[in-house]
Amino acid sequence: MSIRFDSEGKIFVIETANTEYAMKIEHDRFLTHLFYGKKGSEYPGKARYRSFSPYYQDIGEGFSLTDDYNEFAMFGSGDFRCTALKLRNSNGNCCTCFYYDSHEIITGREAIKGIPCARAQEGTETLVIHMVDNLTGCKLNLFYTVFPKHDIISRYFTLENNGTESVKIEKAMSICLDLPHHDFDMISLYGAHMEERNVQRTPVMIGNQRIMSRRGASSHQFNPFMALVSKNANETEGDVYAFNFVFSGNFLDEVEVDPNGATRVLIGLGEENFGYKLEAGESFSSPEAIMTYSADGLGRMSRNMHKFVRDAIVPRDPFKQRPVVLNTWEACYFDIDEKVLIDFGNEAIKYGMDMVVMDDGWFGKRLNDRAGLGDWYANPDRFPNGLADFVDRVKKSGIKFGIWIEPEMINPDSDLYRAHPDWCISCEGRERSLSRSQLLLDFANPEVVEYLKQSFKKTFDGVAIDYIKWDFNRHISEPGSPYLPADRQDEAIFRFYLGVYDLFNWFMETYPDVMIENCSGGGGRYDLAMMAVSTQIWTSDNTAARHRVHIQYGSLLAYPSYVMSCHVSNPMVLDDYMNLLDYKFKIAIAGMLGYELHILKMQDDVKNEIKKQIEFYRSVEQLIKYGDLYRLVSPFENKKGISSYYYVSTEESGEGYADRILLTHLQNEGARGENIVYNFKISEADSNATYKDSLTGKEYTGKQLNEGIEYVVSDKDMYGELWLFERV
Ligand code: DGJ
Repeated sequence: MSIRFDSEGKIFVIETANTEYAMKIEHDRFLTHLFYGKKGSEYPGKARYRSFSPYYQDIGEGFSLTDDYNEFAMFGSGDFRCTALKLRNSNGNCCTCFYYDSHEIITGREAIKGIPCARAQEGTETLVIHMVDNLTGCKLNLFYTVFPKHDIISRYFTLENNGTESVKIEKAMSICLDLPHHDFDMISLYGAHMEERNVQRTPVMIGNQRIMSRRGASSHQFNPFMALVSKNANETEGDVYAFNFVFSGNFLDEVEVDPNGATRVLIGLGEENFGYKLEAGESFSSPEAIMTYSADGLGRMSRNMHKFVRDAIVPRDPFKQRPVVLNTWEACYFDIDEKVLIDFGNEAIKYGMDMVVMDDGWFGKRLNDRAGLGDWYANPDRFPNGLADFVDRVKKSGIKFGIWIEPEMINPDSDLYRAHPDWCISCEGRERSLSRSQLLLDFANPEVVEYLKQSFKKTFDGVAIDYIKWDFNRHISEPGSPYLPADRQDEAIFRFYLGVYDLFNWFMETYPDVMIENCSGGGGRYDLAMMAVSTQIWTSDNTAARHRVHIQYGSLLAYPSYVMSCHVSNPMVLDDYMNLLDYKFKIAIAGMLGYELHILKMQDDVKNEIKKQIEFYRSVEQLIKYGDLYRLVSPFENKKGISSYYYVSTEESGEGYADRILLTHLQNEGARGENIVYNFKISEADSNATYKDSLTGKEYTGKQLNEGIEYVVSDKDMYGELWLFERV
């Protein structure tokens, strides 16, 4: 049992393998927070009582929501910190007040209506706390789901309007967590298109600090992942509290330190660009947010997250091994036709690739990025005998076939737009702004989603597609829905995502053997909800080695190699082709390998080199996919873009723990005269074993690897090295 209730002390305790979470019912109605952290720790005392703190007459001055650690803080309640729920009632005010009513503990978990959520795992239980508001008649249900083996607890809430008047949710946060101290650093991931997931670590200040997206997408700019870490936290030591949000639209990660020195963390939909009206009889479910605690630094935190995503989030892997794809985009852009695709396929299979992916440009009048989105039929000029016939011909060589789509979008220059100009996201009376010459379809309107299902069905049924790359290339400005009434316009983006997930689910049900790769101009929706509806994600449009080192390192902080799609790409300096090919490959095999180059224009020695790369990748694929990641050198902590890490085999990778270890060292810039020496400590090597580096034949004892391999950084720029230690 991971969840228990002490009815005498009125204390709930939720336990995972290494962590403990506790809260208490006070004065029969308030839910206060007691502890989150290392299992078996002593709980800290109560917050210090201060003056200027509203209290309740029947309880007296000794208890105040102002100062206490609260489990789900509500606006206007006398808790003056940032709050988790703000509900406007029919009297016009937002004073939000729910009291504990009852609770239940259920085995497993319930699904969340319309929104992806984690799957129950071995030992999963859910605590549901029911709270009521007598004024509005609303019922608030707080859900705590525990994933004991993963050290993860997830939270979300549902709100049922059982009253007679409508109410409006004006702020909705899924996690509210009070920590009794504030000596933290905050780690977050920020970026831009082509520059995703830079790691930022800053001291938490007294006051309020937020990272968020108002872009209608989880975004390249800020990622929903966030961690609070003790000052001494590094890869192996220190306290780490990490959070993430299972949603792809707007989000808010809010941290507030009060002058008493306590820290509040809120993770959820936020309050800007979100609102939700509940008529009598209606209900609302918030997306799920997750949290983990590691007493052993950042490395353990990442491994908790990685395993959780692999086991509980990513839906399926239709193939035994991930296809090594050859994607047409960077090779051809819009200049595709049957011949080029068939030739790509015939050539790709000779060199060990498994799939050719036809990227943008195959449908409607899509000859450039100014037309065609919305018209999901194969361009008859490019495919005169239709898509099915063409795909059969591509696949004759034995290669698999993938295709690109961007369902949420529409170009004004499209048949669909001409037929339904009212089907676009927009705010009445305002100009609709374009981005990449496109608008968004109003996925809050079920008719739009239904139309797309029929349109894709007509085009894809009977076509032997193995893979879909699902793109999303603009953010949401003028966030309104012509379908929704005036008093529901704040719901447009949230409901847009209900439509998006509906379409994803339809694709997965209709084409169960097709693998979906997610993409949003690279990694612009690199979030847990997208991971729950696709097998992997295109990490970034930037495939330049210099940047990839950082982008992938940052991505791996919160998300596993298992979802990280990495291509070795075209633009390489010709006189240094082989070296860059080697470097890009060593970078790419931190995740799931693919290629994005013009195979027909390449010399045989280059293609033969690629064949060898794929053979090597296949020999370590399971180790990379299911292995545990240990980071040694961060490219964010040196100026040369030096990055070193290793994957250690686990039972899931089909071998014994630490039977094989793949160590990677990457350097964008060489030593250039400096004496830079690292000691790569392979702590996970079995100290009783002997290992042989199968790439050099050199033997090491496990103890030697534990103590570390001395590595002197060479002068070479854009250079990488691999070691594959195998238990002898
Ligand atoms: C953006 C994606 O990230 C690219 O890989 C490519 O698919 C283009 N869109 C196509 O328009």
